[in-house]
Amino acid sequence: MAAVRMLWMGLVLLGLLGFPQTPAQDLDPVQPNFQQDKFLGRWYSAGLASNSSWFREKKAEMSMCRTVVAPSTDGGLNLTSTFLRKKQCETKTMLLQPMAVSGHYTYHSPHWGSKHIVSVVETNYNEYALLFSRGTKGRGQDFRMATLYSRTQTVKNELKEKFINFSNAQGLTEEDIVFLPQPDMCIQE
Ligand SMILES: *[C@@H]1O[C@H](CO)[C@@H](O)[C@H](O)[C@H]1NC(C)=O
Ligand SMILES: *[C@@H]1O[C@H](CO)[C@@H](O)[C@H](O)[C@H]1NC(C)=O
Ligand SMILES: *[C@@H]1O[C@H](CO)[C@@H](O)[C@H](O)[C@H]1NC(C)=O
Repeated sequence: MAAVRMLWMGLVLLGLLGFPQTPAQDLDPVQPNFQQDKFLGRWYSAGLASNSSWFREKKAEMSMCRTVVAPSTDGGLNLTSTFLRKKQCETKTMLLQPMAVSGHYTYHSPHWGSKHIVSVVETNYNEYALLFSRGTKGRGQDFRMATLYSRTQTVKNELKEKFINFSNAQGLTEEDIVFLPQPDMCIQE
């Protein structure tokens, strides 16, 4: 009996009970042979799609942001985004930690107290990237978002269609999708 209790205690101390790890098998697909160095540099967030209720409320007010992707010291990514908010330019940094499988990152949101997995599902590096994020912990648990990154501010119709198809494949509908307008300040250079 005591031995069983010891084992039990050991498992708890090792964090094996109560906080199961996100099963790795659940990961979304990523761009085959993903090359992080080619993914670096400037992107514009041209399209977003999410079924979350805050997104539905806010999407009409959102505009395109410029994101500079740089490598971070832990092998992950440092995303610095500049966007227009309430007639002011704002800059926000997001640090993505690398996961064992290349093309997957984890992000801890201090605002939501949640943890997310961000996957670069498809990219040709010089034109577009399709990203998918899902919440795995905390308040963001049911969070899902598809993002269209474009190297240019104007986006061809074919790429928009690609993003619509991608979002639909993730279970997101037409009304969950928004193509962001270019603000007249902040993202130019
Ligand atoms: C968003 O979609 C996911 C997957 O279909 C679902 O689990 C989640 O509950 C949905 N969230 C909302 C707010 O509708
Ligand atoms: C992330 O990049 C920004 C902009 O270059 C920089 O100011 C910041 O120190 C970087 N943060 C980390 C943790 O590397
Ligand atoms: C989007 O999906 C439709 C229907 O499956 C397909 O005909 C079209 O070629 C796709 N478009 C792109 C840009 O992938």
